[in-house]
Amino acid sequence: MQARELKEKYIKFFLGKKHVEIPSVSLVPENDRSALFVSAGMHPLVPYLLGQPHPSGKRLVSVQECLRTGDIEEVGDTTHHTWFEMLGNWSLGDYFKKESLAMSFEFITKVLNIDPKLLHVTCFEGDKDAPRDETSADAWKKLGIKKERIHFLPKKDNWWGPAGTTGPCGPDSEIFVDIFPDLPDENFVKGNLRGRYMETWNNVFMEYNKGKKEKYSPLSQVNVDTGMGIERTVAILNGLADSYQSSIWLPIIKKIETQTGLPYLKNQAPIRIIADHIRSAVFLLADDVEPSPKEAGYVLRRLIRRAIVQAKSLGLSENFTSDLAEVVMENKNNYAGDYPELERNQDLILKSLDDEENRFRVTLDKGLKEISRLIKKKELSGLNAFNIYQTHGFPLEMIIEEARKSNYSLSSDFQEAFEETKKGHVKLSQTAAKGKFAGGLSGNDPQVLKYHTATHLLHSALRKILGDHVKQSGSNITTERLRFDFTHPQKLTEEEIKKTENLVNDYIKSALPITQKTMTYEESQKQGIISFFKDHYPEKVTAYFIGNEKDPVSAELCMGPHVKNTEDLGRFTIQKEESSGSGKRRIYALLS
Ligand code: SER
Repeated sequence: MQARELKEKYIKFFLGKKHVEIPSVSLVPENDRSALFVSAGMHPLVPYLLGQPHPSGKRLVSVQECLRTGDIEEVGDTTHHTWFEMLGNWSLGDYFKKESLAMSFEFITKVLNIDPKLLHVTCFEGDKDAPRDETSADAWKKLGIKKERIHFLPKKDNWWGPAGTTGPCGPDSEIFVDIFPDLPDENFVKGNLRGRYMETWNNVFMEYNKGKKEKYSPLSQVNVDTGMGIERTVAILNGLADSYQSSIWLPIIKKIETQTGLPYLKNQAPIRIIADHIRSAVFLLADDVEPSPKEAGYVLRRLIRRAIVQAKSLGLSENFTSDLAEVVMENKNNYAGDYPELERNQDLILKSLDDEENRFRVTLDKGLKEISRLIKKKELSGLNAFNIYQTHGFPLEMIIEEARKSNYSLSSDFQEAFEETKKGHVKLSQTAAKGKFAGGLSGNDPQVLKYHTATHLLHSALRKILGDHVKQSGSNITTERLRFDFTHPQKLTEEEIKKTENLVNDYIKSALPITQKTMTYEESQKQGIISFFKDHYPEKVTAYFIGNEKDPVSAELCMGPHVKNTEDLGRFTIQKEESSGSGKRRIYALLS
């Protein structure tokens, strides 16, 4: 079974169990500027896990694209990916452990036809915060899993969340499949988790809220949050220990083999890194992230640069990223239809990759020069090597290789010094990232809320002044400004810009209330409510109205939240208007 079929079967199975499908949201969390990326299917559901009613009900299912930056350095082994798709089903205060595990078991054994004898499962062993999870273990026994295949593990293995430092979390139960069943049984130890026994699915029982200072308190409702990685599951279903050998990756790996003229099997780690990073870059660019020195843009830049450095280490010195990106986008079997933004932004994606590659090749040459300068001065230490690695994206092996080529003998503590400096750096950036994720999920910055409401007003004003062909094609909000992309064939005139600015300021001054309403998608379309730039919607949606609901200034489908009244926004100024690809314009605007 391949990825497309797995996705379809998963959704169909859970629809049959009275779940409602919700769409994949953008990789860049909307209105949550303190989290860089959506890293799990539950991310857009945090308010609902905490008790807010979801417009689609209590049983949800989705295929969500995710990006995990914590694993960038791990990519290169058989199972890690930066961008991936996660299948998930949720109970928001509805069913709990027994029913959830029974559904997982049914799907795995009846739909995927995995022999139950190949399964190992884990349950939480208990500690001062929560009791040993005998309920899940009993449920597994009743489903026929033998006692010796049920393993109790501590919090570090069997507890998920919160995604930041506070928020919903709980014990989990993970399902593993023995991918070498012909070998004699081995001890199920942690070291084996990623080798012989491959993890396919995690059922998280989100019944606690972690507050500040290590305090866990029961949530007002008990939830289930599950996540099944598509890449790993497809590998398991095809008996592959290396997920990069599945059909998901094959066209990309083949293209890299052609570009470098080298076989995958002899160059696995660098080829996996190139494949993973360019695929991630494509999906980030599709969601309007641009390479930059900051935040999400910096992660994108790092991914592209790491891929280029790896390609260079394989002897590939010409531009290759946009050709490879075309193969990722053509992979109809996996992604076609699910991510219309790939097609919509195709030209921009290819151009951005080319531009970034051209820019980086200049830096890369500077890095090589810096290495040769340090070699000449006999100053190539572990610390200096780390600086080159950090600034120019050179991997250690390449720096060592340059030293070898010049017959330069590195000091005995060279590697150790490099690793120590890197460890200190990783710790620092992880702490920063954690802090970043934390704030965002629990609360929204008031400035971000204002910019979000201003985005709706700008959208509406542009449609009034330029015409109904204007449609939002992307947006990005920080605490300092808003960026808004929309369809329009030519540059705006000074007059059009001024008119738009004035109209938004009129709306603001009119002190219009903002209200929300839940309705079916069909109903929203009948009412002519504007839908956002992602093209797929669940059956039940939330509409936000600005002004009188009967004749609103703006009516858009949106997840919110917004300010309560437009008078909170202050003064709106358009700072810049420019092209953002063919047939598209971009506006930067400020509130003051
Ligand atoms: N949130 C859990 C995970 O990411 C289950 O979806 O593994």
